[in-house]
Amino acid sequence: MSDIFDKYGDVIARHDQLLETGPDPFAVCLEEVYSPTEAKVNGRHTILAGTNNYLGITFDPDCVEAAANAIRRHGTGTTGSRIANGTYTEHRRLELELASFMACRSAMVFPTGYQANLGMLVGLAGPRDVMLIDADSHSSIYDGARLSGATVVRFRHNDPADLERRLRRLEGEGECRLIVVEGIYSMLGDRAPVADFVELKRKYGAYLLVDEAHSLGVLGETGRGAAEAEGVADEVDFYVGTFSKSLGSVGGFGASNHPKFESLRYCSRPYMYTASSAPSNVASVLTTLRQIREDPSRRQRLWRNAQAIYDRLSEQGFEICAPMSPIIAVRLPDVETAYYAWSRLLEAGVYVNLAVPPGTPHGECLLRCSVSAAHSDDQIGEICQRFGLVARDLQAKAPAPEPRLVAQASD
Ligand SMILES: Cc1ncc(COP(=O)(O)O)c(C=O)c1O
Repeated sequence: MSDIFDKYGDVIARHDQLLETGPDPFAVCLEEVYSPTEAKVNGRHTILAGTNNYLGITFDPDCVEAAANAIRRHGTGTTGSRIANGTYTEHRRLELELASFMACRSAMVFPTGYQANLGMLVGLAGPRDVMLIDADSHSSIYDGARLSGATVVRFRHNDPADLERRLRRLEGEGECRLIVVEGIYSMLGDRAPVADFVELKRKYGAYLLVDEAHSLGVLGETGRGAAEAEGVADEVDFYVGTFSKSLGSVGGFGASNHPKFESLRYCSRPYMYTASSAPSNVASVLTTLRQIREDPSRRQRLWRNAQAIYDRLSEQGFEICAPMSPIIAVRLPDVETAYYAWSRLLEAGVYVNLAVPPGTPHGECLLRCSVSAAHSDDQIGEICQRFGLVARDLQAKAPAPEPRLVAQASD
């Protein structure tokens, strides 16, 4: 009998090879967390520059208090699904707040952002429909698309012209067309041209879903995301969002103005057949949403910090994959160089994400930094200074006679 893990042979071999030279990049443990931007890692005080804690909200005293109160009042978990015993008054309140925040008729809360995509895509599209998804979509979009049974068509990343070619070819095929894009892409940090996609969905009678996971609380005048920033928020048919980034908790949501949207509560299996979010998560998100609405200062600080890191890393010669955003992805030529740089940064007390194939678009090897409003000027200085040391290291290791810090884009 063959080993059931044989199918992972290559992946396991590559992982083992990596571990011969240093720490496991996929098993980093935060031994203690001191603040949104600091933790103990491998026994060392470390600056966190690879979380999705964009607004630095996780230790906000009001959010902590709201979560602790909710546990005391409602317990640690709901032990049931939304369609059984898992809907509490707070789930309903949060859905009303989210709908109002997104200026939509209704919103539905899911236990994670991953599941929000699954629930929305599986609920909205079926075997007679066509789903057109951006090639760089998050895995939850790919998985939801597959699970829906719809015909899935990938279009070139952030390329409305390619999408239009495919929409034209599809004329007369399938019942409904659902276009799926993200506001800010999680790996490279680039933004979708949402207004162009809105124009196409109107022209071809399609629906548009925007996953604002990384843009919620980050883009737009009131923090609704990329569609708001482009002035087309009201034209988007469906939104997905997550609580695990700017909102500093765990969970996700879908929102829409469609009059039949609420029917997903009894038509979408990923919504129905899983336990609902813990009361503490719901309570902290309710508090965070209010703060984001009332006070844009965290968003402003986030962008100021992002600009500072972007400028300093660019000056040091690092190649950054996209225009400035709170996700700053530094491109390195290969897995070995990226892993070496990542390990050196961690040894020096700075944690960023190592992102390598197959988890990256076009086989990119990246050091993915994500910026927080909670990073102090000193921390930003330290992050950039440590990157500078790594840049020098890489230059010293580069082959003579013309050392290059980074390779050209591989795509
Ligand atoms: C675009 C996008 N959608 C959905 C998710 C899933 O969100 P969560 O981690 O909250 O489940 C992520 C997570 O990184 C994401 O980047």
